[in-house]
Amino acid sequence: MLERLERLGGLAPGLVRGLVGAARVDALRARLQATSSKRLDVVAAQVAHLLHLSRVDVRGRVCLELGAGRVLTHALVWHLLGARAVIATDLEPQAHLPALRAAVASATLSIARDVLSPFEDHEVLRERLLRLERLVSGRLVPETLRDLGVEYVAPLDLARRRLGRPVDLVASNSVLEHVPADDVEPLLANVATDLAPGGVMLHAIHLEDHLDPARAPFRFLAERPFPPGEQGQRGNRLRASEWRRRVAALPGLETRDLYAWRRDAALLPRDVDPAVAHEGPDDLRTSHLALVSVRA
Ligand SMILES: C[S@@+](CC[C@H](N)C(=O)[O-])C[C@H]1O[C@@H](n2cnc3c(N)ncnc32)[C@H](O)[C@@H]1O
Repeated sequence: MLERLERLGGLAPGLVRGLVGAARVDALRARLQATSSKRLDVVAAQVAHLLHLSRVDVRGRVCLELGAGRVLTHALVWHLLGARAVIATDLEPQAHLPALRAAVASATLSIARDVLSPFEDHEVLRERLLRLERLVSGRLVPETLRDLGVEYVAPLDLARRRLGRPVDLVASNSVLEHVPADDVEPLLANVATDLAPGGVMLHAIHLEDHLDPARAPFRFLAERPFPPGEQGQRGNRLRASEWRRRVAALPGLETRDLYAWRRDAALLPRDVDPAVAHEGPDDLRTSHLALVSVRA
């Protein structure tokens, strides 16, 4: 039922929202994500992959999560890894706490523990997971999150204003590509300014057209014009080289790729919009990019 609604929602979002109501659709989406891509063990594996590549130690750090989304599982993983505090932010409030509860309840907690264990003591992880399980077994409320050191700050547009507190880790997953291209520089500058000495930024960026990433991952590169509204939904079309250039322009940070995955060049459109800055086919067909930046 959920999957069918989700599929129909992708094809005709207006129709589904009209039929079921926007709030109900958001809740259904959140529940679906909670038991799939945002399940605690799945997100733990995703974060472990990034930590394996970046060698970042989260213990004792203040983490700022950009675009935390409907299910705040990443914030819980930063907590499990020993973050001193987690500030989960979003452009608009959309966190769904019952879904977060489902993300924990449906996970295989021993897998979360094992995949995170290269980055935090196994016994400490066991204790934190048991406490998390206990806390979320009741009704999950904002105070529960605060007990875990997780603060939710939304709405917050970091392209318009700074957080204004020093942070040690800035992290985002599938967020930066939704930021309109003109807002990317101010947003990066604002978060980098709040990054304390020794601080790290970790960004995983999905560079495909979000309309149909499986079958037409680069269709949007041919479209013109491509206004900010479309950029927010389908991705801002910035290619890997442009992300590297913009992050490298931040003063005092050393940046490197963690990964840059590519897809078949045959998937590229013949006629790329000249407004898309790029360095050739390999740059255009880069589908996923993760960058780590360290402040000296
Ligand atoms: C695909 S979701 C990813 C959510 C979450 N990071 C995750 O991995 O599940 C994209 C997120 O980016 C946020 N977002 C979109 N535009 C943004 C902007 N200009 N500034 C900050 N966040 C933005 C959305 O509100 C949403 O939470």
